[in-house]
Amino acid sequence: MEILQVLHMNKGDGETSYAKNSTVQRKIISITKPIMEEAIGNLWGDVPDDHDLESIGIADLGCSSGPNSLAVISEIMDIIYAKCRNLGRASPEFRVSLNDLPGNDFNSIFESLPDLFKKLEEDKGVGFGPCFVSCVAGSFYNRLFPSKSLHFVHSSSSLHWLSQVPPSLQSNACKVLNKGKIYISKNSPECVLDAYSVQFQKDFSVFMKSRAQEMVPGGRMVLSFMGRRTTDPTAEESCRPLELLANALMSMVSEGLVEEEKVDSFNVPYYAPCPEELKLEIQKQGSFVVDRLEAFEIDWDGGFEDTDCTFRAASRGQRVAKNTRAVVESIVEYHFGKNIMDDLFQSISIAVVRFSPSQIWFSCGLSYVNLLLDFRPPLPSTPIITSHLQTRVSSPGHRLDLVGLVIDEDGGFIVLKRRNREEIRVWGERRREMAVDEDKEMYCVSVIYLLCLELLLDVLRNQFDVVLIHS
Ligand SMILES: C[S@@+](CC[C@H](N)C(=O)[O-])C[C@H]1O[C@@H](n2cnc3c(N)ncnc32)[C@H](O)[C@@H]1O
Repeated sequence: MEILQVLHMNKGDGETSYAKNSTVQRKIISITKPIMEEAIGNLWGDVPDDHDLESIGIADLGCSSGPNSLAVISEIMDIIYAKCRNLGRASPEFRVSLNDLPGNDFNSIFESLPDLFKKLEEDKGVGFGPCFVSCVAGSFYNRLFPSKSLHFVHSSSSLHWLSQVPPSLQSNACKVLNKGKIYISKNSPECVLDAYSVQFQKDFSVFMKSRAQEMVPGGRMVLSFMGRRTTDPTAEESCRPLELLANALMSMVSEGLVEEEKVDSFNVPYYAPCPEELKLEIQKQGSFVVDRLEAFEIDWDGGFEDTDCTFRAASRGQRVAKNTRAVVESIVEYHFGKNIMDDLFQSISIAVVRFSPSQIWFSCGLSYVNLLLDFRPPLPSTPIITSHLQTRVSSPGHRLDLVGLVIDEDGGFIVLKRRNREEIRVWGERRREMAVDEDKEMYCVSVIYLLCLELLLDVLRNQFDVVLIHS
C-alpha cells in the first residue's frame, strides 16, 4: 500500500468527517499547551540573533483539516504574541506553514483562513502580525522547508504514522505468523516486532535529519503522538486500538463478509514507541537534545462526560468508532472496499460498549498513551577558554588530572579537568579506541562520528570543572 498516497483523515465536515470527530486529538493539543508555552518562551534567549525573531517561522506537521488545524496555529501565535508583549517588543511577522500528505483536505483549510484572519484582527488589533499562512503538501519523512527557516515546529497525533508498511511484513512467513492481526499483538512473532521497530527507527531518524536542516539554531520542536510507557511493544496499552479493529474485521471474516486472506495481508503503518526507544534514536541521530519527554494517558473519547449514565457506554462506543473511522477509513477502505465500512465501524462501536460492561469507562482502561517530546537542535558551542588550564596542559611532567576529547568531524578539541577519577562516559557506538597521550598527560578519545557536540558538552560540563575547546 502506498500509504503516502492513500492516507488522509476523512474530508469535509459531514457526519464521518475528521472535522466533526476529532475531540480526542483536540484534547491532546490542549494538554500540550503549557509545554508549547515553555518551549516557545525559550526562543528568546536561545536563538542567538534577536533580529532573527522579528520574522518567526512556524510549522505544524500532520495538520489534517477541521477545527484542530487552525486551533493549533492560533494558539502558537497567541503564545508568541503574548511573549513579545511581555518583553515590550513589537509583534513579529508570522510565517506559518501547515503540512500534511497530498491527500489531505487542504481546500477546507484555505476556506477557513479568512475567518481566522478576521478573528486575529478582532482579538489582537492592528499591532498584530502580519501573518502569512501557507500549506505544504508532502511527507514529513522528507525535507519540506528551506534550510534554517523554522523557529518552532509542532506536530500532534501524527508521528505514530510510519512512512510505509514495513516491507518485510509482506513475506509469507510474517503473514502466517501474524494471522488475523493487523499490527503487533500479544502473540506476534519477533519478526513482526522487529519489522515495525526497524521501520520506526528509520523514519524517525529521517524525520530528525530533515528538521535539523530546516530549523534555526536555538529553535524548538514539540511533538506529541501515540506511544507506550512500557518497553514491551506487545503491551495492551499500545496495541489495543488496532486490536479492536482487527477483531471487528475477523468477526466479519467469520460472517463470510470479508476474506481471511485480506485481513492477513493488511498491516497498519503505525508504531507506538516507548520513551527509551525515542531517546536512543535521538542520541544515535545526534541532531537534537531533549528537554522533556513524558507520557500521559488520554481517554479514547477525549474524556467527554455524558450526564445520562444509561447511555454513557453506548454514546462513548459511538464516539470512539466515529473517531476511529475518521482516522483510518481511507486506508481500510482502500484495502477492503467501501461496502463494509458502515458495518465495520458499527461493530467497533458495539465492541467498545461490550468492553465497558459496567459502563465505568475508566476502570476498564479504555485509554491510550501519548508521548510528549520537547527538543531542539543544539546551539553552536560557546567555548570557555581558561588560559590557566592551557598553561597546565602544556607543561609536561606535571601530573595533571586531565581528560581530552578529540572530535574528528569538525576538528574540535576539548580538554577537561576531572573532578574525580571516575571513568569518562562517551556516547555512541562508533567510537575508536581510547588513546593515551603521555606527553600532555591527557587521555584522548576520537569520536569518528560526532554525535552532537552540545549534547556531549552538556553531560561533560556536569562532570568537570572546566571545559576547554581548541579548534
Ligand atoms: C490524526 S491526524 C492529526 C491531525 C491534527 N494534527 C490534530 O491533532 O488534530 C494525523 C495526520 O497526520 C498526517 N500524516 C501522517 N503521516 C504523515 C506524513 N508522513 N507526512 C505528513 N503528514 C502525515 C495524516 O494525513 C493526518 O492528517
